[in-house]
Amino acid sequence: MSDLLLIPGPIMVSSAVEEAASIQSLAHTSPEFVKIFQGALQKLRTVFQTSNAGDQPIVISGSGTLGWDIVGNNLLKSGDSALTISTGFFSDSFAECLKTYGADVDVLKSEPGKVVALDKIESQLKSKKYQLITLTHVDTSTATLLDLPSITSLVKKVSPETFIIVDGVCSIGCEEFKFSEWSVDFVLTASQKALSCPSGLSVSLISERALSYALSNESTHGFYANLKKWIPIMKAYEAGVGQYFATPSIQLVNALNVSLGEILSYGLEARIAKNKKTSDQFKNNLKQLGLTLVSEDSNSAHGLTAVYVDQPGKVISSLKSKGIVIAGGILPGIKDKYIRIGHMGISAIDDNLHHIDKVFEAIKESI
Ligand SMILES: Cc1ncc(COP(=O)(O)O)c(C=O)c1O
Repeated sequence: MSDLLLIPGPIMVSSAVEEAASIQSLAHTSPEFVKIFQGALQKLRTVFQTSNAGDQPIVISGSGTLGWDIVGNNLLKSGDSALTISTGFFSDSFAECLKTYGADVDVLKSEPGKVVALDKIESQLKSKKYQLITLTHVDTSTATLLDLPSITSLVKKVSPETFIIVDGVCSIGCEEFKFSEWSVDFVLTASQKALSCPSGLSVSLISERALSYALSNESTHGFYANLKKWIPIMKAYEAGVGQYFATPSIQLVNALNVSLGEILSYGLEARIAKNKKTSDQFKNNLKQLGLTLVSEDSNSAHGLTAVYVDQPGKVISSLKSKGIVIAGGILPGIKDKYIRIGHMGISAIDDNLHHIDKVFEAIKESI
């Protein structure tokens, strides 16, 4: 039997998604595959909560990181200023990616597990013109959740021209997210976390206004991460017509269509509420053991838990010997002091699997 995989992505997926990921290949422009791709793109509109038909979902073979490159390549020009609100390792890596496209990036950084105060963001936004701001909805290194509605409404008030970019890799599917209501311009995620699929797809949504900028941005370079290439393809598939730029992953797109179907048939709101319940219960149980979370209660993520333990290496190997795989810390400075446990997808939703009970008992016996 394989191990119980409870790292913060890739996660364990349902048997229907597993089956969908191992179908015989179909021709990528065949009517059968076009219907599958169309279904996935249409469902993403609901998962991302967009109400504007001019916004465009994008699904490309790659990982979450490709979303950062799409932003750097298409939504700014070399020399533009960008502002990163950093709550950890992944926020910082996004900033590093943007610098490779020539952006002049300012980073406002929080202490581990804390968030940057709104008034600091406000004065920074007033200090110069920013082409875009990056917000990592959940930084997976610290399990810290941003208060997106407050930050996005601040950006709209203080600097309405600035594109609002959200890294939703560890939030989409397990945290409340409202693309249109929160005036987001680009959200990026990946298939292997709360979208509940195997790894291998970069999944994003671009607003109509950001799309119009990207399509007329003369300074875009490179070939694969160029939206001028991909947007006609996405529009064609969504309209029910196969069109070629680069071969899509038949199996992964099929798996995504099935997993999105599962998310929507459970109910998006119900799923997010269930994730929160599972997460709150697990975190409370850990606190009752006398353990301290990395993230403060007011900004704790619901798809994973980061918790300080005395000997992380020992706890991780003890769990592995019991057939449970969790992750270690990755934030420089504290990485040797904590462990991370993922609870997304079926592990958070299906109590009958007892994944979270099992990992809790194993941690209790190992600390
Ligand atoms: C918040 C966040 N952003 C970006 C990434 C990068 O995604 P990937 O590893 O799929 O390239 C990750 C990976 O875990 C992440 O957690």
